Amino acid sequence: MPSGLNVVILAAGQGKRMRSRLPKVLHSLAGRPLITHVIEAARALKPARICVVYGHGGEQVPQALPSDGVTFVKQQPQLGTGHALAQALPHLGSGALTLVLYGDVPLIGEETLAAMIAGGGDRLTLLTAELEDPSGYGRIVRSRRGSITGIVEEKDASAEQRKIREINTGIMALPGARLAGWLAKLTDRNAQREYYLTDVVPLALADRVPIANVKVRSTWEILGVNSKQQLAQLERIYQWQHATRLMEAGVTLADPMRLDVRGRLACGADVRIDVNCVFEGEVKLADHVEIGANCVLRNTEVGPGTRIEPFTYIDTARIGAHCRIGPYARLRPGTRLAQEVHIGNFVEVKEAEFGARSKANHLAYIGDATVGRDVNVGAGTITCNYDGANKHRTVIEDDVQIGSDVQLVAPVTIGKGATIGAGTTVWKPAPAGELTVNQKSQVTKPGWKRPQKKKSDS
Ligand code: UD1
Ligand code: CA
Repeated sequence: MPSGLNVVILAAGQGKRMRSRLPKVLHSLAGRPLITHVIEAARALKPARICVVYGHGGEQVPQALPSDGVTFVKQQPQLGTGHALAQALPHLGSGALTLVLYGDVPLIGEETLAAMIAGGGDRLTLLTAELEDPSGYGRIVRSRRGSITGIVEEKDASAEQRKIREINTGIMALPGARLAGWLAKLTDRNAQREYYLTDVVPLALADRVPIANVKVRSTWEILGVNSKQQLAQLERIYQWQHATRLMEAGVTLADPMRLDVRGRLACGADVRIDVNCVFEGEVKLADHVEIGANCVLRNTEVGPGTRIEPFTYIDTARIGAHCRIGPYARLRPGTRLAQEVHIGNFVEVKEAEFGARSKANHLAYIGDATVGRDVNVGAGTITCNYDGANKHRTVIEDDVQIGSDVQLVAPVTIGKGATIGAGTTVWKPAPAGELTVNQKSQVTKPGWKRPQKKKSDS
């Protein structure tokens, strides 16, 4: 690793074909902006500086990204890749090597970049690829003896040069000591009236700086995003890679094509994931976890042996071992479940703890609550946690039985071992060990008749 590595990420271009007001590099791939993937790949190289050149779309790029360790430099107007790099130059200080990346080429791999910088700061290194269809790319021009003599842009290329299938990916590593001199010599005398960074090749030749190239192993690494179609293609490639890594680690996927990971998914042994599940943020699944079809999990930890049944939505929750959640459950932020808890269909839980073996199996809302151990919450039980202005807590102690259709008007406490009868509205403390019900009576009106629909005249 050369001391003083600078990374410059070019991201000032417009991306017209995205047909969006959002700058291209902020469109999301796997739940994060395109450029965030590039910044992460750069970070893995432990560079001295990371510089992002932005321009199109005003201040949206620096505003959308965390600035830790990244310098943002504005390029206005955008006069080409050489001009873009020149804007970063004053911020680079003395670095042995400057690596240029593109903000819209998000799948670039750390290994490839490591190979790019391995040669150090005494040479110019180009990342190249051999493509079936090279159209649109700058072509690598070589001498008879095979050494690189230039890069010709498609718009400037002769018919003969356009047949060259070896292309410039745009990613290159430049010697720090030469950078300022070379950039000062670039001109815009070409078909696009742009300052081409690719024109450093003849300058390197003139200065007798060796020119090397690294050939990219998988073409998808150098694919750029110019349209929504390409964005969708790269998303699928990314997801396929992710699914492959999970399967290599022993995860069983019902269908690797129907899995979306938008963040980090860590899995223990013998995890099974059915189709159409989405994982967002940081998700951890312990050993023997099973996730049914069509579940969404965000920022959640799931304990060993727990089953998440189909159509369950979980956001920012901690779930213990051997629980059974869903189908059709919704766990909102602040849900913490101990072991062997059952949360069934159409149950919503928010900011609530459940002790071991407690159950809410059907149609309930438990919010801002502390539920003890071995509690059974009946169907239709609602914590009335909101008085229109403030939220209040409900405490349900161990071994409580709550009948169906109960309203718990918070703040309220249900004592240990208490039983609440069906249909009760609890607004005062319910004593431990006792049955609490509301006074209600059932009457029958003998001979009562249902109203009949009147016969209309018309
Ligand atoms: C460039 C290369 C070409 C290569 C191709 C790979 C040059 C002259 N050409 O082509 O050889 O095959 O990339 O995709 O370098 N950008 C700026 N400011 C600018 C212009 C561009 O920041 O003024 C950024 C863009 O946001 C983008 C990258 O540089 O991330 C490349 O720009 P783009 O216009 O896509 O590439 P080309 O110039 O067509
Ligand atoms: Ca261009």
